[in-house]
Amino acid sequence: MAEYKLLFEHADKPEYRTLDGYLKNGGYEGLKKAVKMDRQAVIDEIKASGLRGRGGAGFPTWIKWNGIAKEKSTTHYMVCNADEGEPGTFKDKQLMEETPFLLIEGMTIGGFATQADVGYIYIRGEFVDAARSLRAAIDEAYAKGYLGKNILGSGWDFDLHIHMGAGSYECGEESALMSSLMGERGMPRLKFPHAPLPTVAGLFDKPTIINNVETYSCAPFIIKNGGEWYATLGASTKNSRGTKIFSVSGHVNKPGNFEIEFGTTLKELLELSGGVKGGKLKACVPGGSSVPIINAEAVELAIIGYEEMGEVKSMVGSGGCMFLNEHTCIVSFIWRTSLFYANESCGKCTPCREGTKWMEQILRRIVMGNGQPGDMELLENITKQIDGRSFCGLGDAAAWPVAAALRVFPEEFEYYIKHGKSMVNTPEAIALAPSWQQPVLA
Ligand SMILES: Cc1cc2nc3c(=O)[nH]c(=O)nc-3n(C[C@H](O)[C@H](O)[C@H](O)COP(=O)(O)O)c2cc1C
Ligand code: SF4
Repeated sequence: MAEYKLLFEHADKPEYRTLDGYLKNGGYEGLKKAVKMDRQAVIDEIKASGLRGRGGAGFPTWIKWNGIAKEKSTTHYMVCNADEGEPGTFKDKQLMEETPFLLIEGMTIGGFATQADVGYIYIRGEFVDAARSLRAAIDEAYAKGYLGKNILGSGWDFDLHIHMGAGSYECGEESALMSSLMGERGMPRLKFPHAPLPTVAGLFDKPTIINNVETYSCAPFIIKNGGEWYATLGASTKNSRGTKIFSVSGHVNKPGNFEIEFGTTLKELLELSGGVKGGKLKACVPGGSSVPIINAEAVELAIIGYEEMGEVKSMVGSGGCMFLNEHTCIVSFIWRTSLFYANESCGKCTPCREGTKWMEQILRRIVMGNGQPGDMELLENITKQIDGRSFCGLGDAAAWPVAAALRVFPEEFEYYIKHGKSMVNTPEAIALAPSWQQPVLA
């Protein structure tokens, strides 16, 4: 299966970043149609499309939009999660840089459907070019009546702001993001059923919708062409519709973002990205660093779909797909992943604060050649103490990669602990490794 460029169809045209260029290429047809529709009919089209959130969890978008009070009694907010902190994922960055109006139009459609007054795009602090591109597009949209007062003569007002984050992975977690946006520490809040849903009390305790950049960017096409049309894409899968952008990196010949239809195989995605580089395929982390790693045999079988990916014990996640060749030491790779989550843990809850550091320390001592008998069992035990017992999803995200690596590549851990060095000691692996690790590889 080839690429299916829906969101990316015009991404390579610089003119698409200007309002004139966007309009010339079919832009704002969705919003023009939406503002003439009943608000509920807009939500119904999103329902018919089968769109699920592209931020990682795959939650049905229409359920969120439908959850906002229909009788408006206070301010409603529309928030875009543009924090994109998951290692391996860089699709939202390209969308914001090259197709900024798709996000703006998508948020405006969502804002209309949910009677929002104000929208915020919370952008990862390092994404300066994306923020510049969005700033210019928002200014143009205001100047031509696509944002601000009485949008397209509908009598409805909607303001849109950009907020730059300060570079914390945890601030991509939706409740921590809202805390950060309110000027508080970027820590997560208590969730439903122990606290109200964001659609009831989110940003500033007002009804709030929060979606990912790619999720919003799908809305213009759904309204323009109809939900049923959108649902024909990916129809071969159980419950995944439309296209999905995968950021492919690692040992491939052509890394980059690839938009594919759900139902495409992981092997086809590998082919699109030019095939494996520097050796045979060994492993793949299909959906961002937090999703379970799979081996080459599972890559052969994997179909890209939210449910289908579960059949090879992994996930679609945020779509950050890393392919690893035979010269990769899985133990070192997982230690590096673990270090990231230990650094990013916000410290609010004990299982994650203590557990992520502990896992990292054990993996570090193995990688340094000082692994001890029982380390694998201890690591597995810690993953079980973190997974499902942490205050937010970061704990799970830290536990899954370690648990999966132990399950899929036990022999690599066993060898490293027994011999004090990696079993992957090919010249290519040694050449790629950092200098401090050279003695334990050779
Ligand atoms: C630790 C952590 C980090 C997250 N980072 C992001 C992120 O950078 N971008 C994102 O869209 N969702 C991220 N999420 C998921 C969000 O909490 C939320 O599910 C998402 O923004 C909802 O949008 P969607 O329904 O459109 O996917 C993160 C979740 C966790 C637990
Ligand atoms: S799981 Fe706990 S410590 Fe980890 S980031 Fe979430 S709240 Fe913070």
